[in-house]
Amino acid sequence: MMFLISPIYASGSMAFMLVLLLALHYLSPSSSWGYISQALIFHQVRKYLLMLDVRKEHVKFWRPQMLLMVQNPRSCVQLIRFVNDLKKSGLYVLGHVELQELDSLPSDPLQAQTESWLRLVDKLNVKAFVNLTLADSVRHGAQQLLFISGLGGMRPNTVVLGFYDGAAPQDGLAQYSPFSGGREEAQLSFPPVREASGPRPLSPQEYVAIVADAVKMLRNVLLARAFEQLEQPRPAAPCIDVWPVNLLRPDSARYADTCSLFLLQMACVLHMARAWRHATLRLFLCVDTGARTRGQEDKLRQLLKELRIRAAIHLVPWDSVVALHWQKQQEPWAAAPDAAVNFPACVSEEYLHAANRLILEQSSAPTIRFLYLPRPPADTALYPAYLHQLDLLTRDLGPTVLVHGVSAVTSTEL
Ligand SMILES: *[C@@H]1O[C@H](CO)[C@@H](O)[C@H](O)[C@H]1NC(C)=O
Repeated sequence: MMFLISPIYASGSMAFMLVLLLALHYLSPSSSWGYISQALIFHQVRKYLLMLDVRKEHVKFWRPQMLLMVQNPRSCVQLIRFVNDLKKSGLYVLGHVELQELDSLPSDPLQAQTESWLRLVDKLNVKAFVNLTLADSVRHGAQQLLFISGLGGMRPNTVVLGFYDGAAPQDGLAQYSPFSGGREEAQLSFPPVREASGPRPLSPQEYVAIVADAVKMLRNVLLARAFEQLEQPRPAAPCIDVWPVNLLRPDSARYADTCSLFLLQMACVLHMARAWRHATLRLFLCVDTGARTRGQEDKLRQLLKELRIRAAIHLVPWDSVVALHWQKQQEPWAAAPDAAVNFPACVSEEYLHAANRLILEQSSAPTIRFLYLPRPPADTALYPAYLHQLDLLTRDLGPTVLVHGVSAVTSTEL
């Protein structure tokens, strides 16, 4: 009607309204009267969350939903930002366990901390939720988070932990540029990083137990090591190197089990993130010289084509390394009938050193490596040995992610 009566005045007033609207949107001072938009968003989100049905999940719509366990955000700024790239458009939860007993406290100490955590999330510019919990041990806290974090159909399906090693933690927050002004950083109430020789809140046994718990609850597990070395201004030609074979079980080298496919998928998801789009994806295929390697390579190439993953394949002859493993196998103590029980004992330190060197030589100067993480042993007494093997295998490799996948994430069916 307006336009019929007077097109000029009508468009004039529309334009004026638009200008007002934009001015309010961009210049508006923060108000204290509450936002109707928040109420509307709440309504919509609740409605659609209820419609999101876990029973209708399908491998074709799988997405990484991360739960990153953080002990002190000061020492893992790089990792927090890295996982933000890795989660693509999935859910991302930062989990933290505070070692205290609520019984002995007058009030909930977490409420005061939430503020700092939310400010951290804003400053690091990551799209994450924060879940804090109180528990008497890190393992119990991690179990709580694994059981209940998430809402409705949105639940983390992958757990990320930093690696457990003797490296001294560094305060990445003080160095991180948006904070280096000093004043902002002081507002965050995180405790200083642990002294290298100080007491640790977690034992090796407990650490592997957390990994085992996560696997039992059917979560995929990522262990990230040496991420403080991931430089922010990246080299001109960064590489993402993938070793999709279980290096702790050299006698059963297979390339297409659930875990290696998951590993490949994670590398591929990272490759799709904006910051990593120009990286080269390299796949390392361990072969015996003289064996029918062409067949293996062709099969892998075919698989990559079906999965639409663009990666360069490198063949790595590793007979000399595997030989170290077999020598040990012939010793009587290693020849136990049940390989699964014997599992952590079945690779020697010599073999692990050689495998570590092989990785370093073959994929020198990558920006990041993805390695296969075998399942923790069933016998809890072997947990420290398992961790020691992982430590030897990934020592001095630079930023490395050990990946254990339990869910199928690729499908070639129509
Ligand atoms: C815990 O994380 C979920 C997302 O997984 C989030 O919706 C919820 O608000 C968080 N809880 C707290 C207390 O922050």
